[in-house]
Amino acid sequence: MIVDPPTAPKAIEIGHRLARRTGRMHASAIREILKVASRPGMISLAGGLPAPESFPVDIVRQLCDEVLSEDGERVLQYHATEGYGPLREALVPFLAERGVHTSVDDVSIFHGSQNVLDTLAKVLISPGDVIAVESPSYLGALSAFDAYEPNYVMIATDDEGVLPDDLDRVLREHPVKLVYLVPTFQNPTGRTLSPERRVRVAEILREHDALLLEDDPYGMLRYEGTAPLPLHALAPERVVYTSTFSKILAPGLRLGFVVAPRALSRWMVIAKQGVDLHTNTLGQAIAAAYLSGGYLTAHLPKILELYHPRRDAMLQALENHMPDGFVWTRPEGGMFLWVIGPERVDGEALNARCIEHGVAFVPGRFFHADDSGSHTFRLNFTAANRTTMDGAVRLMADAARAMLSASA
Ligand SMILES: Cc1ncc(COP(=O)(O)O)c(C=O)c1O
Repeated sequence: MIVDPPTAPKAIEIGHRLARRTGRMHASAIREILKVASRPGMISLAGGLPAPESFPVDIVRQLCDEVLSEDGERVLQYHATEGYGPLREALVPFLAERGVHTSVDDVSIFHGSQNVLDTLAKVLISPGDVIAVESPSYLGALSAFDAYEPNYVMIATDDEGVLPDDLDRVLREHPVKLVYLVPTFQNPTGRTLSPERRVRVAEILREHDALLLEDDPYGMLRYEGTAPLPLHALAPERVVYTSTFSKILAPGLRLGFVVAPRALSRWMVIAKQGVDLHTNTLGQAIAAAYLSGGYLTAHLPKILELYHPRRDAMLQALENHMPDGFVWTRPEGGMFLWVIGPERVDGEALNARCIEHGVAFVPGRFFHADDSGSHTFRLNFTAANRTTMDGAVRLMADAARAMLSASA
């Protein structure tokens, strides 16, 4: 008997089944650029990844072995949603050194600070609620918030971060549920909110009874200068502070932490319970040992020694090669700097030209919640070494010069 091969069943239609909020989600606009940037032979100034040579692989191997030998049954078990006790305990003095004074009960552990952004928006934001963001802002935060269907209002910035007067205006004119800032070595600009403005921002938050999320993944990557106080230190009752192990240990562990007013962190923990029960315990135990065993103190200088000369090399290359009309930030730390060109140099067109010659960066337009920023771009200075960086910036400069003379 001959049996016909089964015909493939028709693929299920998904479009009409999607939730309304899914319509607000989209693949990151810079994913395509990052895909191109990771092609063999490309020099990428586009990525936001820590340099792989910064990872303390041997330390993680040793600590993994230690925590499994000493406490294997506990670190492989389900655990409390708030986080693994020894990590929460180790974070209290770690945070205090950075000006964030808190107690074990007020620190919770999440899967990266990205998980914190999502969870906070989940508990605060109903469709149409207003989130105030600096312009430009961290793209990943906008993606996390988008799922909760907010409306955005933009706060103007300059070289010292957000303009307090504009924050004041925004809070006066809009019913803002949440203000979101990256005040130190911001992604994408590398800018840091000045100490004077921090004091004023804290006053404004109080004047308007506002709540702010301070996202601080880069504060520990400081190559020079003095760290300003975190906003949390200036208004702890109305600032949610989040940071991460991604840049000081390894992003693959997906470990972030948050300090929030207790009435709010309670809800964040309840929300997290319904999503993933808790953050992975083995990773938390490794991070706890990394902090309490003094490994971070020993390893952080190595990360800074790797990145500091790369930051210098990028600044020098821009100085040497960029044509007149381009200006850029000079961050004292972090991973990015921000270039602003003449309005007739479109960042996307420049990037396309550079990609043809083997260099990629991220056009700044993608970091704006509106359509502005077309002549800006973000450069990562931690991934490439000095010689490579010089060649990449020279190529960008030549491409920019060619565009300028074509449009003259
Ligand atoms: C400003 C900012 N916030 C949050 C994150 C997410 O970090 P994590 O790896 O902790 O989720 C990043 C990642 O690069 C970032 O730049």
